[in-house]
Amino acid sequence: MKTPEEFLAENGLFGVRDFDRASLLAILLSEMENGLKGAPSSLMMIPTFVGVDGKVPSGAKAAVLDAGGTNFRSGIVTIPPSVEDRKNQPMPGAKSPVDNETFYSVLADEVKRVAPKATAKKIGFCFSYPAEATRDLDAKLVRWTKGIQADGVVGQYVGKELLKRVGGGEIAIVNDTVATLMAAKATEGEKTYSSYIGFILGTGTNCAYVERNIAIEKLSGLDPNGKMIINAESGSFDKAPRSRFDLLMDAKTATPGANPFEKMIAGAYLGPLGLEVLKVAAKEGFFSRGAAERIAGLASLETIDFDNFIAACKKKDRVNPLDEIFANQADAKMARRLGLPVFERAAVLTAVHLAAFVIKTGEGASSAAPVAISVDGSTYYKTRAIPFDETVRRELDDMLVKRRNVHYEITPQVDDAPMVGAGIAAML
Ligand code: GLC
Repeated sequence: MKTPEEFLAENGLFGVRDFDRASLLAILLSEMENGLKGAPSSLMMIPTFVGVDGKVPSGAKAAVLDAGGTNFRSGIVTIPPSVEDRKNQPMPGAKSPVDNETFYSVLADEVKRVAPKATAKKIGFCFSYPAEATRDLDAKLVRWTKGIQADGVVGQYVGKELLKRVGGGEIAIVNDTVATLMAAKATEGEKTYSSYIGFILGTGTNCAYVERNIAIEKLSGLDPNGKMIINAESGSFDKAPRSRFDLLMDAKTATPGANPFEKMIAGAYLGPLGLEVLKVAAKEGFFSRGAAERIAGLASLETIDFDNFIAACKKKDRVNPLDEIFANQADAKMARRLGLPVFERAAVLTAVHLAAFVIKTGEGASSAAPVAISVDGSTYYKTRAIPFDETVRRELDDMLVKRRNVHYEITPQVDDAPMVGAGIAAML
């Protein structure tokens, strides 16, 4: 009988020790270049028009909306960063399809609630979906991700439509990666960074960075400083090697084929991916008969349960289906050995992804002025199966510092970075 590791490798789920990081890094960089040039690429590389170098006025209050994934938040952001008057509700269209009037009325009601408490003229709006950014900081939705069902909104200028329904005003819409980048910039104090990256690893994943190459036609003349923040929409990167399990899982999603990279590392997918690993392994005889039958009958698996199980963490207030399925010690041990590599691979891919963006900034040559990486998202900070942040740093130290003498720093986490960053965009 083969070992679990042989089984995983035969099905294309690589062991992290043998993985060729350098080739993937090179492919990612060339996809970025192509996307910037407008050549065929799986990365959209969307230029955004928020200031890179503006000063944030202290004491200002901005009304902020945050449409992140399945949640829709609103509140008042002040600097130094804090969020008051918060409200959190389900994102319209997350549970069932909505028409445009329903969609915008949920947003408009929140604008009406928070706007009167703000001092900044503009409303800040963190909108975490692929959207073209306009010079006046509006966003034209390209397509929904994260399962949102509000088809009529696709192709619309979301800001313009929203403002129509609240009787005018101004709005600054930013992607969550852009907001997270800006939040770090606004809270850095006396630190000196040569450039900035905003990275999200939560339900979805994506990166924004500061591009300094104004020679590129798409960017030239757009910014007086010659720098622009680019929203890469890197979750749709399609050149990372996918396993049989990735393909099986992808086929069952609402958006087969879309966002393949996101589906390898982000929170919406690690549980479903683990379920495919365990199901195929059961068919190949890695578990007792009882466990094999029970896992075959499990219809879905949430990332939180998969993660808790691998970490052998039992929650009093939550029944974990895997604890019941793998009640026998030998089965549980085998299931953990098969599942752990899903998280290990996610951490290595995360590091390659970040390394590529750090290199793309063209900065970080000195340790006195490293490239700042600002991270937000539950998958990055709350995964228990492996020490995620530590693994990513170890990989980056090797790929960037040791091999290239490029310096980076993962900046201290800013609470509510996407909302804070959207508030800053509104104040600038
Ligand atoms: C998805 C969205 C992207 C967002 C990311 C993280 O990939 O398309 O805009 O930044 O999720 O929330």
